[in-house]
Amino acid sequence: MDVLEAAFAEAYRRDAEGVWHAPGRVNLIGEHTDYNDGLVLPFALPRGVGVAAARRDDGVLELKSLQAADQGVTVDLGQSRGPGTIRTWAAYPFGVAELLRPLGIGGASLLFDSDLPQGAGLSSSAALECATAVALCELYGVEPDRRELARLAQRAENEYAGVPCGIMDQSASLLCTEGHALLLDCRTGLSSQVPLDLPGKDLTLLLIDTRARHALGDGDYGRRRAECERAATLLGVPALRDVQDLGAALSRLDDPVLRRRVQHVVTENHRVEATAGLLRAGAEQELGGLLTASHLSLRDQYEISWPEADLALEAALRAGARGGRMVGGGFGGSVIVLTATGRAGAVRDAITAAYRERGLAEPGFLEAIPSAGARRISMDGGLPG
Ligand code: GLA
Repeated sequence: MDVLEAAFAEAYRRDAEGVWHAPGRVNLIGEHTDYNDGLVLPFALPRGVGVAAARRDDGVLELKSLQAADQGVTVDLGQSRGPGTIRTWAAYPFGVAELLRPLGIGGASLLFDSDLPQGAGLSSSAALECATAVALCELYGVEPDRRELARLAQRAENEYAGVPCGIMDQSASLLCTEGHALLLDCRTGLSSQVPLDLPGKDLTLLLIDTRARHALGDGDYGRRRAECERAATLLGVPALRDVQDLGAALSRLDDPVLRRRVQHVVTENHRVEATAGLLRAGAEQELGGLLTASHLSLRDQYEISWPEADLALEAALRAGARGGRMVGGGFGGSVIVLTATGRAGAVRDAITAAYRERGLAEPGFLEAIPSAGARRISMDGGLPG
């Protein structure tokens, strides 16, 4: 029996009907472009959130987590409570369940387990939402389009957790496939799978947990979003995605802060297109420059990098890495570094040494391997009964 199934049996005194997994993501490139109606290119990680679940016929939703110190939450889905009633980690799955109710979802018991660090910029919240969504949908035999499900999970995060995130993380968790990055147009919702074959090119993408933490709800993320919206309004376009002539747009903005934000968003969209082009041409070796350019733009124009990220990247580049960048919302979390596989050890050592020199806590290292999106991982078939 799966470990999570056994834990479920102990927590709820009955058997789970299945176990599902939704991955966290790394964004290869396209940062802070999603809420500007732009392009993103994330891929799913092997790590994520697992959930063992079983239906309840009384409309009650029970939520527990192996990572949470609390006892979890028990709510009657029949009495719609709406956003704001739950203020713990359980707000995310509760929001998903409430939003899914009109599609025919009823009560259930869920037990979560996660191997994603929280606040590391790897979308642990989106993984929690998407694990809930795929488990409840399959338990109740409901099959919404996955793009619709991503929008619903994003709404749960916006409305029930009060985080004004875009659509990238939930789309990545639900739509990514093994060995590929997902090129997503956040305006149209259209996406395509772009092959990302790093081992075949003798390349390694190191994922470095810088150990610095920041939550998206802190206000900085929302401020950046508001600045972009203000700039779009001043420029008379629906979203910064629509800026065609960057030079002309910059000359029309008086505020230097807004000019920097626009500069980042517009050039980042171009970098996503260029990156997808290189991947399609099988030119993974040439990605490094675009990754580093993205980082510099996030550091200098968008002003959301943090000292440990800059330090890790500088050390990696000095040790011969091809390029790299911070990932996620910013102000803390993780960095990716692209390196020839033969140099990966030296790059790691250089980053660790730079951290030690500054007296910082050891960074964490993982290899970022493009993996599958959310899916059932045990006890296939037989549902709904
Ligand atoms: C967070 C948000 C995403 C996206 C990124 C920045 O991960 O959840 O919607 O805006 O930041 O690219």
